[in-house]
Amino acid sequence: EKGGYPHFMLKEIFEQPRAISDCLRGRINVEDHSIQLGGITDVLDKLVNAKRLIIAACGTSWHAGLVAEYLFEHLAKLSVEVEYASEFRYREALIDEDDVMLVISQSGETADTLAALRTAKERGALTLGVCNVVGSTIARDTDAGVYTHAGPEIGVASTKAFTTQVSVLAMMAILLGQKRGVLDEEYAARLIEELDRIPGKVQKILDNSDSLKDMARLFSYAPNFLYLGRTYNFPVALEGALKLKEISYIHAEGYPAAEMKHGPIALIDEMMPVVVIAATEHTNEKMISNIEEVKAREGRIISITGEDNDEVIDLSEFSCAIPETEDCLSPMLTTIPLQLISYYIAVNRGCNVDQPRNLAKSVTVE
Ligand code: F6R
Repeated sequence: EKGGYPHFMLKEIFEQPRAISDCLRGRINVEDHSIQLGGITDVLDKLVNAKRLIIAACGTSWHAGLVAEYLFEHLAKLSVEVEYASEFRYREALIDEDDVMLVISQSGETADTLAALRTAKERGALTLGVCNVVGSTIARDTDAGVYTHAGPEIGVASTKAFTTQVSVLAMMAILLGQKRGVLDEEYAARLIEELDRIPGKVQKILDNSDSLKDMARLFSYAPNFLYLGRTYNFPVALEGALKLKEISYIHAEGYPAAEMKHGPIALIDEMMPVVVIAATEHTNEKMISNIEEVKAREGRIISITGEDNDEVIDLSEFSCAIPETEDCLSPMLTTIPLQLISYYIAVNRGCNVDQPRNLAKSVTVE
């Protein structure tokens, strides 16, 4: 049932080209550059007129929510707040019938996310869900929603669930941008065509991923890791760090790259690998200066960057190349090597990859 792979996690990482294709199928049309999301058609008007979108989720799904914040603000000019579901439910959150609450959950059963959803419903907000498990509680309890169609995810560490969540959220943001009349038509067309190419680009990263095993051997000793990203790839830095913590039990932190000098820079020395996600063009110069700051303190740089980004590649001890893409879609690519790095390091350290200690696939208690 693992399809020849030693672990479900690796199988699910390698399934991503197909999972993303399944997620996009029938929803994007590259001929007329349109997007159709049947699950939210009935509530589209309300969504188009929304003043604010509140996203609530936990863990990896919360990271997808953070990517969505950048996507919705950029493409649909919609103001977004992203909340940890567990905090939202106990705050005096100001939410009413003029708001839209979007919950994101692979399992559709996470207790905190469900509680946040129910709070929003009680206050009269329109509720939307992005779930993977068909017929799950959250999928049933939301007013409308879009399934990710990633297929069953067995490994406790979430992989294909995340990239398909981001795929759905990108489609929603483009669709909303078009309907709200705020998204340039040519840009929308480019994004839709590029979405169609993402599965092939993910496949290319996977096909060329063997060198990540060597990299993992080199760095499996490290007691701490730092992950840095900017804009769309700041949530990816958080996700990379979470993945490493969960399955290899190495302490890791993700930061927006500019925050480094407000504290974490004090940690950097030759024992501290720093994973830099430098895959958005408009922040490239800034990332290069962050890399130089790390190197000046003997930190070791592992970079995830565009295949033509020679400047970053030359500054890195190890580099994983990502095919060129639109900045706002880059998380679907940059996440892949981070999943593999955490997988190979965990295997090197003899960890139980599919069932890490203390973790359950679905957290149905508070
Ligand atoms: C991370 C992971 C968890 C889940 C979180 C939310 O790899 O698996 O952080 O993402 O428990 O789960 P769902 O998405 O099922 O609500």
